[in-house]
Amino acid sequence: MPGTGTAQPRHVAGGRPSSDAPALQARALVKRFGALVATDKLSLDLMPGEIHAVIGPNGAGKSTLIHLLAGTLPADAGQLRLNGTDITRLAAHRRVAAGLSRSYQITNVFKRFTVRDNLLLAVQAHDGGGLGYWRPRAAQRGLYDAAHALAQECGLEAEQLARRADTLPHGEQRKLEFALALAARPSVLLLDEPMAGMGPDETARLADLIESMRGRAAMLLVEHDMEAVFRLADRISVLVYGRIIATGTPEQIRNDAAVRQAYLGDEMDTRPLVTT
Ligand SMILES: Nc1ncnc2c1ncn2[C@@H]1O[C@H](COP(=O)(O)OP(=O)(O)O)[C@@H](O)[C@H]1O
Ligand SMILES: [Mg+2]
Repeated sequence: MPGTGTAQPRHVAGGRPSSDAPALQARALVKRFGALVATDKLSLDLMPGEIHAVIGPNGAGKSTLIHLLAGTLPADAGQLRLNGTDITRLAAHRRVAAGLSRSYQITNVFKRFTVRDNLLLAVQAHDGGGLGYWRPRAAQRGLYDAAHALAQECGLEAEQLARRADTLPHGEQRKLEFALALAARPSVLLLDEPMAGMGPDETARLADLIESMRGRAAMLLVEHDMEAVFRLADRISVLVYGRIIATGTPEQIRNDAAVRQAYLGDEMDTRPLVTT
């Protein structure tokens, strides 16, 4: 293990090399539900531009972790930094403004609005500068251009822009959700089971989309689909009983004895680790 020193014998830094500070840094996060410790002094570094998957059996605390990071649940203890700034006490919407977006928030889609209007609203909401109202046409054109560019980047066809959002097929809605999350130009994007409820074809297309977004933002990917996880992730952290028991490259995680042990009995999640 060249260059890692003595500080981190288990948490091997894998994937693309990066000397930058973490985009998102969690330190000793704790969340209790009554007597249950759902998040147990959890620490995690999400490096700029990396896709970092969090996997673990049902009830391990993956959704809770996403909530703590997004700010939709308050942590009982611990620290959270976004690009070096302490955001531990920041409300969810302020985290979004600071560059921490969360996708798969269907609630962010105005279902009765068109795809274009959804995109325009999102672009406008995050357009930091004023609209330059002495040149309303030019300003409006700018918003349209930005909305259309976003649609194209996320693979939404031009003909779909005029459709009502709630008439989009499942896979296209997911693209729209992505586009809306990216409108904030986040440095960190939290993806909470984006493949949930999708068939194999849709899953593959969404994986392509996520792949094409690589580098646009650091992504924390909570996902049950192990094929997608092992394809997309630069690094994987394994969560069990609220604790990260291992972090490493897909290869390192696949071959990790402790990870295999922790998964025994969880057939769904064990299968890909064993057969691939
Ligand atoms: N709002 C809540 N109230 C009480 N217990 C909860 C709540 N949310 C989650 N839990 C419990 O915390 C643990 C972790 O849940 P969760 O984060 O949903 O796990 P995962 O997403 O990995 O399946 C589970 O034991 C779950 O029952
Ligand atoms: Mg969950």
